[in-house]
Amino acid sequence: MQCTLQALYARQPQQGDDGLPHPIDATTRIKPEEGLELLALARQLGARNLLEVGLAWGFSSQFLLAALALEGGGRLVAIDPYQDSDWHGIGRRLAAASAEATIALGNGAFRWIGKRSDWALPQLEQEGARFDLVFIDGYHRFDDVLIDLSFAARLCRPGGVLVLHDMWLPSVRSVVAFIESNRPDLLRMPSPCPNLALFRREGEDQRRWDHFVPFESAVGHWEELS
Ligand SMILES: C[S@@+](CC[C@H](N)C(=O)[O-])C[C@H]1O[C@@H](n2cnc3c(N)ncnc32)[C@H](O)[C@@H]1O
Repeated sequence: MQCTLQALYARQPQQGDDGLPHPIDATTRIKPEEGLELLALARQLGARNLLEVGLAWGFSSQFLLAALALEGGGRLVAIDPYQDSDWHGIGRRLAAASAEATIALGNGAFRWIGKRSDWALPQLEQEGARFDLVFIDGYHRFDDVLIDLSFAARLCRPGGVLVLHDMWLPSVRSVVAFIESNRPDLLRMPSPCPNLALFRREGEDQRRWDHFVPFESAVGHWEELS
């Protein structure tokens, strides 16, 4: 996993499902410090069941698999409908290879769901899946992030943590403002990485049917975080 991450951050071309090497772009990825925070968080939680929305080249999945390996086992589910069309299957290939090459994991430790998150997350709920940590880094429009967060909260065990990426975007910061004002069951946790927002699931969502607290949506990109 470490070698794979080094190669990815060095932007070494990676082999796709077509057998050809493909260049890795400079922006579609979490930063190393964000990945290390995910890893540390997963370890703090003793997490064995991890979920991520948005796989792309698989930077974040490598950190999450490393956390599972250090924990001695577990499972990562990654949702991304565009692995074949946009990413040459590279994130999926690398994650599967890392899981298979790790004694503590094996090839059952990684599962890819090639559907949109608004289809895949309810499917996981119907399967009875539960996760200790959910990392949300899929489509970044306000309503898509809110949908991901709302479904993911139901999949997260009490005491588990939901992580949103890309706080530099006003869409994501507006979702965070909504949660902080309207979801007492999701408690914001401090994060050393300002581009990540962390929420611990405290318990059930017990709001009334007509509950709504006005919240202030965010404006402007934080360019310095991008
Ligand atoms: C910023 S990239 C993820 C980067 C990845 N987390 C990493 O650090 O390596 C966003 C990903 O979300 C995926 N995506 C876009 N729309 C989606 C949707 N509706 N459901 C799930 N994933 C989606 C894209 O295909 C892309 O791979």
